[in-house]
Amino acid sequence: MYQLCPSILSADFNRLGEQIQTLEEAGVEWLHIDVMDGDFVPSISFGMPVIKSIRKESKMFFDVHLMVTEPERYIQDFVDCGADSITVHAEACEDLERTVECIRKAGVKVGVSIKPATPVADISYILEDVDMVLIMTVQPGFGGQKYIDDCTEKIKELKEMIEEEKLHVDIQVDGGINESTLKTVLDAGANLIVAGSYVFKGDLAANAKSVQKVLRKYQD
Ligand code: DX5
Ligand code: ZN
Repeated sequence: MYQLCPSILSADFNRLGEQIQTLEEAGVEWLHIDVMDGDFVPSISFGMPVIKSIRKESKMFFDVHLMVTEPERYIQDFVDCGADSITVHAEACEDLERTVECIRKAGVKVGVSIKPATPVADISYILEDVDMVLIMTVQPGFGGQKYIDDCTEKIKELKEMIEEEKLHVDIQVDGGINESTLKTVLDAGANLIVAGSYVFKGDLAANAKSVQKVLRKYQD
C-alpha cells in the first residue's frame, strides 16, 4: 500500500477545511497532522481543538505525528479528537514499549519515529509491535527543509530488517520530499510519503495528483 500523506503544517490555516476537502476530492486518503510542543522540538504547531474541528468534515485517515516530550500523557486525548494512527518519537519516550502498548490499547494504529541521527538499530526490538516506522528525513520541527541524504541508507536498512523478520510494517518518510527525493525514498523502500511544502505550494490538487501518479507506478 502506497499513500501520499500531505502534511497540513504547510496548509493555509485560514483555508484549512477547504484545502483538506481539495485533497479528499483529489483522491488522497491520508492526512499527516504534525503536533509540536515547543519542548521536543523548538516550534509549537497546533493540538486537539484543531484536529477535533477538522475531524467533523473529513473522512480521511488521520495520521498524527506527535513531536512531543512524553507523548503518553496525551494518547487518549488524541484518540478522542479523531486520530486514526499515532506516531511517537523514540527519543521522546522514557519507556517506548509502554507508550506503544498504550497507543495499541487505545485502539488506533501505532507508529514510532526516529530523528535523522538516531540509528534504525535503536528501534529494532520494537518493530514487531508497531504498524509503521517513520524515518525523519529532516530535523523535526519545521516544514520546507532540505532532505538529508544520509537518511536514504536508513530506509534501506529498515526495509531489509522488516523483510528479514517477515513483518508487516509500513515505512513512512517525512521531510524534504520533492519530485526528485520522492523517487529516492520509494526506491529505498518507503511506502507512506509525507509531503508538506511540495504539495501545498502552488496548485494543491494538481500537486497531489502528480505524486499519486508516481505512487501508482510503484503500487503496480
Ligand atoms: C517536520 C514535519 C513534517 C513537515 C514536512 O517536523 O514532521 O511533516 O511538515 O514538511 P516538508 O515536506 O515541507 O519538508
Ligand atoms: Zn511530520
